[in-house]
Amino acid sequence: MTSLHGKTALVTGATGGIGAGIAARLAAHGARVLSHYRSRPPSEPDLLAGQADLREPAEVDRLVAEATDRLGRLDIVVNNAGVQPVRPLSRLTLADWRDVFAGTLDTAFLVTKAAANVMGGGGSIINIGSIEGTTPAVGHAHYASAKAALLMHTKAAALEYGPQGIRVNAVSPGLISRPGLEQAWPEGVASWTANAPLGRLGTPEDVGDACVFLASDLSRWITGQNLTVDGGMSVRPSW
Ligand SMILES: NC(=O)c1ccc[n+]([C@@H]2O[C@H](COP(=O)([O-])OP(=O)(O)OC[C@H]3O[C@@H](n4cnc5c(N)ncnc54)[C@H](OP(=O)(O)O)[C@@H]3O)[C@@H](O)[C@H]2O)c1
Repeated sequence: MTSLHGKTALVTGATGGIGAGIAARLAAHGARVLSHYRSRPPSEPDLLAGQADLREPAEVDRLVAEATDRLGRLDIVVNNAGVQPVRPLSRLTLADWRDVFAGTLDTAFLVTKAAANVMGGGGSIINIGSIEGTTPAVGHAHYASAKAALLMHTKAAALEYGPQGIRVNAVSPGLISRPGLEQAWPEGVASWTANAPLGRLGTPEDVGDACVFLASDLSRWITGQNLTVDGGMSVRPSW
């Protein structure tokens, strides 16, 4: 088993579907994890948790200081928090656009900077992107643009933090299952299942295990890269 024993991790948005899966997989591989949330505290009473609105620099600094304090050090950060509203480009306002950029990109930028300052002996930062960072979906011009920018931010941060021993990579998931998705969007789920070469939706744990790899020493010479976790959907030709 890939070992994260002795390592510590901060996972943002860890009370959301994917974030909870990432935190669980890092913990299953031995990491001590602080689960961040904004408005929904975790239901498990024994989970180490910290609250912050990650669009606010002072709250980010407070959260990273709290994580370092409570965990003793900080080795791994997963920038998972994000927002995913749907609205056609023709009806998108500047406020909608800015909200998604703030929730997707400002958050990762601020957390990365604050975390890099306290990662004395190096570390691993993982940004959760999306397959929409390379191929947009209808109604997601703001989201896809912000995720594309997050991939470039990943490369830029890898370039500048590499000399400090800090690796920065992205994981870009495809459609991930969550309770109620099949009822809310049956045609989307059916189409995904029919077209993905591996024939199913992803799970939060599928994303979490990709993060375990990028957090561990198995990926010690990998930085600035984007690992797509989509059951092969992105290799399906559209013609
Ligand atoms: N679901 C998918 O199929 C899919 C596919 C590809 C990529 N992704 C990406 O995966 C990540 C997680 O998605 P999810 O589906 O698990 O989303 P989710 O269930 O909606 O969870 C999102 C999390 O982000 C937090 N958050 C949002 N804005 C924040 C802010 N300003 N400050 C602090 N925390 C904030 C939320 O906190 P509160 O709820 O506590 O406010 C929540 O914990 C996102 O980056 C998303 O873009 C998702």
